Amino acid sequence: MIKLHDLYFKPFVSETELDSTVQNLVDKIANDLQDEVPVFVGILNGSFMFVSDFVKKYPKPCEVTFIKLASYEGVKSTEDIQRLIGLTQDLTGRHVVILEDIIDSGNTLEEVHRIFENEHVASLKIATLFYKPEAYKKDFKLHYVGLEIPNKFIVGYGLDYDGLGRDLPNVYQLKTTKHMTNLVLFGPPGAGKGTQANFLKEKYNLVHISTGDVFRFNIKNETALGMLAKSYMDKGELVPDQVTIDMLNAEVEKNADANGFIFDGFPRTNAQAEALDNLMQSKDSTINAMIALEVDDEVLVQRLLERGKTSGRADDADESIIRNRITEYYNKTAILKDYYSTQSKYFGVDGVGSIEDITERLSKVIDAL
Ligand code: IMP
Ligand code: MG
Repeated sequence: MIKLHDLYFKPFVSETELDSTVQNLVDKIANDLQDEVPVFVGILNGSFMFVSDFVKKYPKPCEVTFIKLASYEGVKSTEDIQRLIGLTQDLTGRHVVILEDIIDSGNTLEEVHRIFENEHVASLKIATLFYKPEAYKKDFKLHYVGLEIPNKFIVGYGLDYDGLGRDLPNVYQLKTTKHMTNLVLFGPPGAGKGTQANFLKEKYNLVHISTGDVFRFNIKNETALGMLAKSYMDKGELVPDQVTIDMLNAEVEKNADANGFIFDGFPRTNAQAEALDNLMQSKDSTINAMIALEVDDEVLVQRLLERGKTSGRADDADESIIRNRITEYYNKTAILKDYYSTQSKYFGVDGVGSIEDITERLSKVIDAL
């Protein structure tokens, strides 16, 4: 996902897909024009990358020129088309192909036709890389269309949002769902993860998804996914990641209007982290940060032994069991720390201090996301 000015955009058409789309247009047009030497007219600014790639691929001699029109303000098309640079050469008798980056309302195209009205060209064909059929209000024929796309604002590959985004080699689509804060929360046993998750969920209006709780809920209520998970557990097998992801998906869907989610207990492996990324991507969203509470081993051991005196939890009473749990935690999370660090999404937070101090430190990280 990318942010331009105040808006978020998600990947929509990749560089490779653009490349093959342009190639297809070239093939069709070259085939139709045979041995004519055409004049390709790019409509600036948006078409500059398309025109450049197009003519590089064009297999025969051709001429290239540009006219410059402007109609868009922000993310909306306007009726009022400004002619900033008109035709600068005589095209009488020539075969002209207009190369447009995108046809939306068709207002710009109407202006193009007006420009060519008295030019006496031999033929005038319209080629556009993108076309939004739902937005098109004119009836000029579009001879060559690269990709038909939904009526949503896009950027990249020449197309901009208020000046930004033209330089991007891929095309992105405006995200219409609101921006969420999604966290993966980690902490060794005794770090106070549960306590902090509760504070964060109140403070930021997030939904806390503890994988353990989700499993217990699904199994207890005998949901289809719960029964499926149980069938693996009964055989002593690991529950496949997809089952867990499906359960998490159900939780995310149940809370569609949340400001975001705190994932707790998931992911534990690289494959799960990727699956979670895909899940969030499918919701037009993303994991923003992995936050890990960092507490010195000796402090953890003392805290847990202290807790064991009152909690009655057997695994909190034995020092060597406690040390094993801590070691296991670091063994398991090291991979995830790497996974999120490479995306600059790993944040270690000092987990020693008062509950308020730690909440404060976590808030600083979240507020800066
Ligand atoms: P039309 O005049 O409404 O057909 O719009 C054509 C022009 O508006 C294009 O040449 C672009 O400059 C701009 N435009 C239309 N849709 C988009 C979009 O989704 N992203 C960026 N620019 C757009
Ligand atoms: Mg344009």
